[in-house]
Amino acid sequence: MRQISIIGIGTGNPEHVTIQAINVMNAADIVFIPTKGVEKDGLAEVRRDICRRYVTNAATRLVEFAIPKRATAGKTYVESVDDWHAAIAGSYVKLIEGLPEGGKGAFLVWGDPSLYDSTLRIIERARQAGAPEFELSVIPGITSIQALAASHRIPVNLVGKPVEITTARRLLADNDRAESTIVMLDGEQAFSKIDDPDAEIFWGAYLGTEDEIILAGRLGDISEEIVRTRAEARARHGWIMDIYLLRKGRDFDDL
Ligand SMILES: C[S@@+](CC[C@H](N)C(=O)[O-])C[C@H]1O[C@@H](n2cnc3c(N)ncnc32)[C@H](O)[C@@H]1O
Repeated sequence: MRQISIIGIGTGNPEHVTIQAINVMNAADIVFIPTKGVEKDGLAEVRRDICRRYVTNAATRLVEFAIPKRATAGKTYVESVDDWHAAIAGSYVKLIEGLPEGGKGAFLVWGDPSLYDSTLRIIERARQAGAPEFELSVIPGITSIQALAASHRIPVNLVGKPVEITTARRLLADNDRAESTIVMLDGEQAFSKIDDPDAEIFWGAYLGTEDEIILAGRLGDISEEIVRTRAEARARHGWIMDIYLLRKGRDFDDL
């Protein structure tokens, strides 16, 4: 039976890659590298760099494959994601078919596969769609949440309090949020649209890479600076990935 490993590679610093991940890459016949078009080539380049540094087994081949773009015209959000996943699952079926019987394939996933990443869902979809039989294993990686917390030198939770992980879309739609809320996938600077000037924000972009930028402060004081910094960085690089923690309250403030 074929074996597929889904490997978390961290968020841009090649030193995030674990020894377990390196061992699994070197045991693979093929390491699959997803590409997402010219504007996101920086992300594929991080993956190539990781392979150049750590894949020492001459028998391991690197195979790049293009992730199709998500078509949104005339579709609800759910429909467009569903169709997109189906298209990617179709690509996975072909990649798995390209492995020899008993062969090992590894997919490199940004951060950790458990966090706002659909590789595990889509690989199961590829199985349903008739991919050759395979065993699946997952190698954990450092998430953007850990990278954010490390760069700001903070814990993500207040003592004994919950942490919510959400998207910009939800931040704007939901009225309540936890004392510590981590916001991902924010293309609309949702932090600048909420009315909570006394909240603290810990923001980070390109975390783990040499282009990393971090800013922190009272939302009412720093929101505009983050919007400006983000726009400039996005224009310079052609793409951006950012994440932030919104915090209300202090340790022990309810005792
Ligand atoms: C599709 S999710 C993937 C998350 C990833 N699986 C992880 O473990 O962090 C992409 C979002 O993760 C966050 N992200 C990932 N890498 C990042 C980085 N290097 N710097 C800042 N944010 C990052 C951003 O919020 C981005 O919109």
